[in-house]
Amino acid sequence: MDKVRIRGGNRLVGKIPVSGAKNAALPLMAASLLTSAPLTLMNVPALADIESMCSLLTGLGTTVGDQNGAMGTELVLQNLNITNTEAPYDVVRKMRASVLVLGPLLARAGRARVSLPGGCAIGNRPVDLHLKGLQELGATVELTRGYIEAHTGPGGRLRGAKIAFPTVSVGATENLMMAASLADGETVLINAAREPEIVDLADCLIAMGARIEGHGTDTIHIWGREALCGARYQVVPDRIEIGTYAIAACITGGELELVGARAGLLETVFDTLSETGASISETGSGIKVSGPEGRPRGVDVMTEPYPGFPTDLQAQMMAYMTRAEGASMITESIFENRFMHVPELSRMGANITVHQASALVRGVEHLTGAPVMATDLRASVSLVLAGLAAVGETNINRIYHLDRGYERLVGKLRDCGAIIERVAENGSARNQVA
Ligand code: EPZ
Repeated sequence: MDKVRIRGGNRLVGKIPVSGAKNAALPLMAASLLTSAPLTLMNVPALADIESMCSLLTGLGTTVGDQNGAMGTELVLQNLNITNTEAPYDVVRKMRASVLVLGPLLARAGRARVSLPGGCAIGNRPVDLHLKGLQELGATVELTRGYIEAHTGPGGRLRGAKIAFPTVSVGATENLMMAASLADGETVLINAAREPEIVDLADCLIAMGARIEGHGTDTIHIWGREALCGARYQVVPDRIEIGTYAIAACITGGELELVGARAGLLETVFDTLSETGASISETGSGIKVSGPEGRPRGVDVMTEPYPGFPTDLQAQMMAYMTRAEGASMITESIFENRFMHVPELSRMGANITVHQASALVRGVEHLTGAPVMATDLRASVSLVLAGLAAVGETNINRIYHLDRGYERLVGKLRDCGAIIERVAENGSARNQVA
């Protein structure tokens, strides 16, 4: 299996183009099941998870075309007839976002059989809120031998309902927004997620003819239509990729312009990075981030649903804080097991103590390179960031996680002066810049 080798210590300077958001593109792709007309998505990132969603949709009868457009890869998805309503275990276990086909399948085909995702490296991650919401829309839902089996009533259509989520869930809000857009009558989602990816999905559904109001707030109204039409829609920039490269600038004391970035997508993160001593400014084409001179100031961070500090940037922020002047308390409030990067950062010389949901990070003068590996996407990229700042060589194993979520990571960092390469198991450098 390939690994990433980094020789740390270089300041990163230059421009990095921001890709489309993986976590917006995946639900948008699932939304293509809601209509028989083509849905064209622009600015789709080239990632392993996007390929997995393409193969899942193909198995449900969707034709998938791709072409290079002015805005990165364009995907054209069309499902004339849903020929199969099953998302099998082998696909869902590789990518949890597969569960997002449940709502659209049920709403358009009247039935769905989707493997239960199970736990993963960052926690238990149940889907009870998705299922309870679909039941409130009139679906019958059963769990049988590891599968969710759901169908609509005799009329074949879901019916609008008032659904109050006990906790904020991005995926449940997305699944129910899609299902409700073909339901009979009005649906109100209370305590809905407000993430930019939710707004992106709502805007795309509106372009497909849905009537939705309140997206971006905690109460979303959806008036169902009998049918939706096709659309052309551009995926929002990836705020987690933006935040990751912003931290790359900070941790190396460098200066990066993130081309295509929008400050409004991650105000809390930029406020936090400013408190560490970084400067952040808008340019005509994106955001410029300059790292602090010398070591950063330690700041406390708690992850929260949007607009709070995102859990998907917690590991990267922790890597940055390992070099802080003073201490930083990092609290994870979304997932119960999202500190898998801590032992690996510690192997690089970080001083971190975890107590329940909080990690106390006492800054050290410098990290030292080491062989490391991680169990999820954001933990893996946090080790890349640590490696960029460390003294000596870091080898990151199990990098398939990075391929799932960061388009051309090695190439983008190398273009800005990082000494980084992807190496095959036998030690030879790969020609392609992944
Ligand atoms: C989305 O996951 C993202 N994935 C995650 O990104 C992200 O970390 C997460 O939102 C939080 O922002 C995609 O968009 C594909 P949730 P999702 O439902 O929708 C609990 C990455 O690295 N919960 O908002 O699965 C759940 O266990 C990934 O790109 C229930 O209890 O997250 C968690 O504690 C990882 N029951 C909390 O809610 C449910 O039915 C938030 O989860 C659903 C969720």
